[in-house]
Amino acid sequence: MKGLVLAGGAGTRLRPLTYTGAKQLVPVANRPVLFYVIDNLVDAGVTDIGIIISPETGAEIQATLGDGSLFGANFTYIPQDQPKGLAHAVMIAKPYLGTDDFVMYLGDNLVGSKIRNAVSDFTLRRDTSAFLMLKEVANPTSFGVAELNDKGELIGLAEKPKVPKSNFALVGIYMFRSSIFDAIGRITPSPRGELEITDAITKLMELGGRVDCARIESWWLDTGKKDDLLLANDTLMDDWLVAANHGAVDGASKISGRVRIEEGARIERSTIRGPVVIGRNARIVDATIGPFTAIGDEVVVERSSVQHSVIMTASSIIDIALVEDSLIGKRVCVRPGAARRASLSLMVGDDCVVELSSH
Ligand code: G1P
Repeated sequence: MKGLVLAGGAGTRLRPLTYTGAKQLVPVANRPVLFYVIDNLVDAGVTDIGIIISPETGAEIQATLGDGSLFGANFTYIPQDQPKGLAHAVMIAKPYLGTDDFVMYLGDNLVGSKIRNAVSDFTLRRDTSAFLMLKEVANPTSFGVAELNDKGELIGLAEKPKVPKSNFALVGIYMFRSSIFDAIGRITPSPRGELEITDAITKLMELGGRVDCARIESWWLDTGKKDDLLLANDTLMDDWLVAANHGAVDGASKISGRVRIEEGARIERSTIRGPVVIGRNARIVDATIGPFTAIGDEVVVERSSVQHSVIMTASSIIDIALVEDSLIGKRVCVRPGAARRASLSLMVGDDCVVELSSH
């Protein structure tokens, strides 16, 4: 069984962060989303992994993930020149995949459950052509949607239907055999101009293939927008954060709850309330951090409070009473201005949102 991770795409909904980086590398609990994807594949014994990359962010993804040895895997990078759809990505990976079965995993999907059992079932059950994971959602029109019969068997699929036939969305994890290539060869681009994997699976069923599905009970998170990303951060820290202190905490600081402090981080005269993760070489001085806060590597927080927020690498927050519900990118500086009257002096990039208290 091979893996195929899709790590292209523009990430328009996560602008401005995705102007300067790939959406799959946005950190959740201080680790890129893509790391959790790879972890889940490797845990299932899938270590030969093809990674689809785009011209815009491919180099950054390759530099971050490396050759796979960090994860106990072998990565093969497969460039996709244009975003022509998920089924198109599978087609260009054909020389890599050959006749092997494979798990296709969208690189911006976070799920709370392991795929280990589903992978071994699919390997054993030779009478199925594909396996899909479904999750009940409140907004099915935003996803691929499954039509199920009374027995819960899959009878149809539709990509972002206006009138959905169920509330079960296709989670971005699919298992296929080489029969999918023939199905993809027989479909045409959708109205959004892409070769849709949903259409290819429908074609596979029309050709007589059996497609199984299972509903996942755990969480499934979209990291597409600010509030989704903060929710993903809360959920991951709640479920998976392992407390550890690899940094230096002085005697005047108080740490409570689950807190992870990475190497080289220094905490001085501060209060940290978990769940919180503090990245490498961060400096927290006379500050209050948490709960539900991820402080990136090399971040500086001085004389400020930060809660329920994600602060990315090398940013600083100095002399700010309270930062909350915030998503702050890399190398951002938040500090009071020199003006004596109440005024704002901003240098903010495209597509940013600045929300200020009304008093
Ligand atoms: C894609 C698939 C859709 C699936 C979704 C899961 O949508 O086309 O069927 O439900 O991923 O994240 P996209 O993210 O391309 O809009």
